[in-house]
Amino acid sequence: MNKVILLNKRPEGIPTPEDFKFIEEEKPVATDGQILLKTLYVSVDPYLRGRMSDAKSYIPPFELNKPIQSALVAEVQDSKNPDFKTGDFVTGMLEWKLFQTSTGKGLTKVDGEKASLSAYLGVLGMTGLTAYFGLKEIGHPKAGETLFVSGAAGAVGSVAGQIGKIMGCRVIGAAGSDEKVNLLRSKFGYDAAINYKTTHDLTKDIAAIAPDGIDVYFDNVGGDISDAVLANINRLGRVPLCGSISSYNDKEVATGPRVQTVMVKKSVLMQGFIVSNYAAQFPEGIAQLSKWFSEGKLTHSETIVEGFEQIPQAFIDLFAGKNEGKMVVKI
Ligand SMILES: NC(=O)c1ccc[n+]([C@@H]2O[C@H](COP(=O)([O-])OP(=O)(O)OC[C@H]3O[C@@H](n4cnc5c(N)ncnc54)[C@H](OP(=O)(O)O)[C@@H]3O)[C@@H](O)[C@H]2O)c1
Repeated sequence: MNKVILLNKRPEGIPTPEDFKFIEEEKPVATDGQILLKTLYVSVDPYLRGRMSDAKSYIPPFELNKPIQSALVAEVQDSKNPDFKTGDFVTGMLEWKLFQTSTGKGLTKVDGEKASLSAYLGVLGMTGLTAYFGLKEIGHPKAGETLFVSGAAGAVGSVAGQIGKIMGCRVIGAAGSDEKVNLLRSKFGYDAAINYKTTHDLTKDIAAIAPDGIDVYFDNVGGDISDAVLANINRLGRVPLCGSISSYNDKEVATGPRVQTVMVKKSVLMQGFIVSNYAAQFPEGIAQLSKWFSEGKLTHSETIVEGFEQIPQAFIDLFAGKNEGKMVVKI
């Protein structure tokens, strides 16, 4: 039998296990032109929260009582498609199922010899590309400048900080525990880091560890943390707006300091982006990330949770900061 996870109801506030439903169905069979895939690793990502709501966005919402989709790594168990053979590993947007068939459209073959298969969901996958293009195309970091990354110990943030170091920046980050702050310095090469949950005055603490101000702010979280960083932004600063996880479970629209005055006075560029804006350049991005990775210039952390049944909880745990680096579920 096959196992499938459906969206049971649309979350209100922080998602709960009741928002998901497990069902069993017959294991599918590949027909002509198709491949049968066995799921090995499942990526859980904060942006999936947006797709669980019934709001119009850049990507359509998940339908109730239909399987949830995210990036997966799977093994080809049977192939009736000449482009794939049994034993190939692939990655792509697939459904939360133990087994599924596909035409192969939109799937990319990955090499488990070059990197762990789960790395293709993180540092060599969508979150790595997000860090790379957001920083390079909008942040335009220059050697000697100060880069601040929020959500710094997460999948995108840990890569953004390391790329900032490769580009010669002084890199500072904010994360939600002392363990993560230590990891930023010891593993990811950050020059300084702050635990935003224990600081009494984040604006002052950022000013103290960034005495020359912030030139590039890679924003993963929004909210109060971003208010404090923007209070320290330099003239001609750049702000790649990657995400705002602090608001994803809000039931009402939050208000905060209005940023326009600072943006004008300091001629700051703030630009939101979606990684798929750069889809045409993905091969270049993957080639660069893979090169740095194989040269040992880029490292990664993963929080690997085991078991198909754990997928919803692993997703929910993103909002409690239970992951260091990329959150992945191993089946
Ligand atoms: N624009 C794009 O195309 C794109 C693509 C991928 C991701 N993103 C965005 O990038 C951000 C990071 O994504 P990711 O996949 O790398 O996830 P992640 O950072 O690996 O995981 C989420 C982290 O967010 C932090 N967090 C959770 N709730 C928070 C809150 N209320 N305030 C501040 N921090 C909070 C937690 O770390 P702490 O322990 O440090 O709080 C948690 O570990 C998200 O906003 C995501 O939506 C955007």
